Amino acid sequence: MARLTTALTDSFDFLIVGGGIAGLRAAVALAPAGRVLILTKADATESNTGYAQGGIAAAIGRDDSAALHGADTMRAGDGLCDEAAVRVLVEEGPRYVQELMEWGVRFDRNADRTPALGLEAAHSVRRVLHAGDATGREIGRAMWKHVVTLQAVCTVNHALVSDLIVEEGAVGGVRYFDHAGGRHEVRGRAVLLATGGAGQVFTDTTNPAVATGDGVALAYHAGARVADLEFVQFHPTALNRTGAPRFLMSEALRGEGARLVNASGEPFMARYHRDGDLAPRDVVARAIVLEARATPGPVFLTLAHLDPGRVRARFPTIAEMCGQLGLDLAKDPIPVGPAAHYLMGGIDTDVWGRSSVTGLFAAGETACTGVHGANRLASNSLLEGLVFGARAADAMLLAPQAAALKPDRREVGVAAADRRSETEGSSASFHRPPASHLTRQGIRELMWRDVGLFRTRERLQRAIAELDSAYAFEALAMDAALASDADAWRHFNLLTVARLIARAALGREESRGGHFREDYPARDDGRWKFHAIDRRDAH
Ligand code: SIN
Repeated sequence: MARLTTALTDSFDFLIVGGGIAGLRAAVALAPAGRVLILTKADATESNTGYAQGGIAAAIGRDDSAALHGADTMRAGDGLCDEAAVRVLVEEGPRYVQELMEWGVRFDRNADRTPALGLEAAHSVRRVLHAGDATGREIGRAMWKHVVTLQAVCTVNHALVSDLIVEEGAVGGVRYFDHAGGRHEVRGRAVLLATGGAGQVFTDTTNPAVATGDGVALAYHAGARVADLEFVQFHPTALNRTGAPRFLMSEALRGEGARLVNASGEPFMARYHRDGDLAPRDVVARAIVLEARATPGPVFLTLAHLDPGRVRARFPTIAEMCGQLGLDLAKDPIPVGPAAHYLMGGIDTDVWGRSSVTGLFAAGETACTGVHGANRLASNSLLEGLVFGARAADAMLLAPQAAALKPDRREVGVAAADRRSETEGSSASFHRPPASHLTRQGIRELMWRDVGLFRTRERLQRAIAELDSAYAFEALAMDAALASDADAWRHFNLLTVARLIARAALGREESRGGHFREDYPARDDGRWKFHAIDRRDAH
């Protein structure tokens, strides 16, 4: 693989934005067919993939089957999974996982050398392949090692992609800033967005700094459909200590027997769900908040009843992180609480990664095939990146083609006031909206407070009013090229994603999976069993 470090205005066959599992798997498939450029926002290894602890789910156990994995995925998805996408995921998953092993991924093994399989919430059998508690890092290591051998693949690191080049209704390239702020354009006959998650839209998140939802903003601004953005998964157990990062305390800990206890040391999850500590993530996340309010006091994860040697051997990374804070994972109660973790929604794609705009593809967390429905099953995300990254590459090799709107997707459109601000934003005579004082930190705080785990119309409307006015101001500034530096784009794209999530959350007047409305606490299949779509130029 060639590494480009200098300014570049060039043409490739295929462009990939993002260096996580989806982008890398696509690069492997595309390399034999042409020149591939991977643009990564930070160092090559810095992506959501590298932070995945639990593992990668695949139906490879003797007691397992694709049908069982599919049924668990659909149940977790709370009635909204796209069945065709689920079938693809669970049926094709095992062969791609096998391929990872052939590329040298070192999964933990049993004494007989078969992969050791872990258990996580809402899985009916053990099916999670893992490499200690740093599975994503190990997969990323092996995949990059493979990709660097491919002569057709170039990478540019520290490249902030700001927007897509759209000509005659088709995407044909990207614009980006390099590490020194230099602006570049690069063209390709197909562009894959594999930019990962959007946890950084919220103050409290398990995601790394790069996870700002760029792909969703890029696609939305290029006119592509986005879907299901109200469905944000809040992981129940992020480390909850003032001043410390919200480090992920993997669900695999509870899979191996860790318990959640309240401030009095009482296990409480059985009072909230029959599956207790291994209830679906959204249920556990809300239960933790309610228990902390009622007790009152922090909630802890305890492993003190388990074999300490085994705990430290199975979870070395988590034990090390706790150790740095003076906590012994095997003995001490570890304070935990929810944090934004995964976005089920994203760029609306079919099962071949095709978006609604010709030439534009998406895979992994930034895409929304509908495979996760309203709530992702644990450890299905790495698998999603692998399977749909490969399939998107297959589609990119063919003549570019946009995906049609599926019957279970419904355009919900935008409010009149939003439309006015977007369309008039480019007019020179447009009355300039008041200056925005919403900083990036301000956006995150607002999202955590008003668009978090417990949502109401009142809180969402308050958030949207602020986000709309900031968006109107920033959109105008971007159109007028008043703010054309990388930081302005960072701000604009984060604001765009936050606003889309908030609008989607206001639209869905029911509770389902990761989306909980206190004013509509029940699931309402009669009105809401569809994927809600938004689009920049929706009617
Ligand atoms: C975890 O290890 O708990 C997170 C894995 C996932 O999000 O699937």
